[in-house]
Amino acid sequence: MAKTIEELVQQIKERLNIVDVVSEKVILKKNGNHYWGLCPFHKEKTPSFSVNPRLGIYKCFGCGEGGDALSFIMKTENRDFMDVITELAERFGLEMPARIHKEGSKELKDQMMSACQKAAEYYNTYLLQDKSPDTLKVMEYLSNRGITKDIIQKYSIGLASKAPTKLYELLKAKFSDEVLEKAGLIVQSRNQGYLDRFRHRITIPIQNEFGDYVAFGARAIDSDQSPKYLNSSDSLIYNKSKLLFGLYTAKDTIKEDDCVILMEGYFDVISAQAHGITNAVATCGTSLTAEHIRLLSRYLKSRKIYLSFDTDSAGQKATNRNAELIKEAFQGLGNIKQFDESYISTSDDRYACEIRVIAPPEGKDPDEFIRSVGAESYKEYMKNAPLLIDFQVNSLLSHKKELKTPIDKTRFIKELIPVLQEINNEIIQSEYIKMVAGALDINEDALYREIKKSKSLETIASPEINRIVKKNVSISEKAQKNLLSVFLVPDSHFTFQQINEMIGDTQFTDEMLIIVKSTIDKLTNSVNNVKELIENLYTAFLDNPEIQNLITDLISISETFNNLDDRDFQNIIRENINKIIQCQKDEEKEKMRNLYNSANDNETEALKIQMQLRDKINKRLKLEKMND
Ligand code: GTP
Ligand code: MN
Repeated sequence: MAKTIEELVQQIKERLNIVDVVSEKVILKKNGNHYWGLCPFHKEKTPSFSVNPRLGIYKCFGCGEGGDALSFIMKTENRDFMDVITELAERFGLEMPARIHKEGSKELKDQMMSACQKAAEYYNTYLLQDKSPDTLKVMEYLSNRGITKDIIQKYSIGLASKAPTKLYELLKAKFSDEVLEKAGLIVQSRNQGYLDRFRHRITIPIQNEFGDYVAFGARAIDSDQSPKYLNSSDSLIYNKSKLLFGLYTAKDTIKEDDCVILMEGYFDVISAQAHGITNAVATCGTSLTAEHIRLLSRYLKSRKIYLSFDTDSAGQKATNRNAELIKEAFQGLGNIKQFDESYISTSDDRYACEIRVIAPPEGKDPDEFIRSVGAESYKEYMKNAPLLIDFQVNSLLSHKKELKTPIDKTRFIKELIPVLQEINNEIIQSEYIKMVAGALDINEDALYREIKKSKSLETIASPEINRIVKKNVSISEKAQKNLLSVFLVPDSHFTFQQINEMIGDTQFTDEMLIIVKSTIDKLTNSVNNVKELIENLYTAFLDNPEIQNLITDLISISETFNNLDDRDFQNIIRENINKIIQCQKDEEKEKMRNLYNSANDNETEALKIQMQLRDKINKRLKLEKMND
């Protein structure tokens, strides 16, 4: 009988054949070492779904879904892990481990939450009451950034000291090691037993929407401390892609005002809420997901979302990326709001969603703005926040001074065209075209023709392809993926240890890659070969389809590194490390440049033009309506 759930999963996997499992739902054709078929996860006419029997995995090159036999069953039948495991164990005549019933039980979860709450209380008391120089310095830092004692109390902000086991010593009388470890409060070290997970960091407890304490974000204190934020990993009680920081304290206002402000960081939300902007929330250091949006829409009747990110180019990219995601999530409900009518009284529920952008010119993020300019002014910006389309047109037009040659202009127009194409009302679209042509001093008819032309091209290519092309994976992220996939190359001559040494302390910045990296680090201590590593990786993330897709991605990348000689293998590692470092440097430079640019900025002109445009379109629509 299997002793643990991991062991049972292993026994089940040995009995599952990926080709058989998939064949129950997909017609497969063998081609070379792989099988191919039509993907069950998205609509397609030519097969881009592949099964690799040697590694026991599947991957779709069209939509990116991937995983192993177990995850295939879970995803296609929309069932949860325990459900599938229980059934398969029965089918194969395997007994469930005795302890399993406790796993994921309400009792364990309650204990984990209670441990998190106790930890939050302890860190908070320590910050407020300890009088050592280190702690006083942190208090001074917080006060300098506008975090008063009241705010510290209200949000239970705390301090984890440098001492390695203080929290553990305190909580071990009340909670078992298992509970504390599962709650992410302690970690097992190689030779010193359990250590506190958070040390020398400002702790920000994370509550779920019901107010339970489930995790922590922990900010570095010293500027050379890395990473800047150490966040709890996902656990039985904490799923980053389904939880929004601040939602518990924001949800009443969100419901009442029927709108939410999405920010980027913990301190943005704390600052905003503490200054009376109580409908602000943020993701916990991960990117926004469709699940976050579904969570929000429970409180948002008219699906009105304000995006308020950093004002630098990274923030602008995040704005566009998240807006895309929100639009996609609400796609089935109709059109996104693209125009502020004043000629009819509007019912709130006419649109699939309404996205507005709060991007005041001063200050780098909402937190800084609210502290330096003030909450009242922020609210004013919120009241006048442009609709997404206006923000996009405006931020593109703000670069128009940089366009010197016709080639510059053409390249620029290429970026603008997709934005204009999205306008779903012809009258409004033609007014925008007129305005843009005027602002750039180009021929209006030519612009109009370009928009219609590439629109028809776009509809020929499948929407899947468009989405993949749009997924603009950054160079750094690609390099980080390449670097991680090196661990998964089956026939390399290097040990995991050697690969680890070559990678050294290269900084991974992508949240999911960091998680996968740390799991690989853990697993490489116990597995014997790459095949085992891959199996265990999938098992470790059975409840996280997003990461399973990522692992499948990494495996496909690793296949391109097969059969390299040792020198080339080492070169690949070196090159990707260099790329990552270069990207970090570029980012720093970009930040400096933006700081400089925003200092001599006067870009509200385009916004003004749009206000006038508003009035004009309103008049025209009103006339049309009267003539109807
Ligand atoms: P301050 O500098 O303290 O004002 O923090 P910030 O919230 O402005 O930080 P920043 O804009 O750098 O990051 C925004 C959010 O991204 C943070 O609140 C975190 O959730 C997340 N984040 C930033 N740095 C890291 C990191 O090193 N690791 C992880 N996992 N998340 C991070
Ligand atoms: Mn900040």
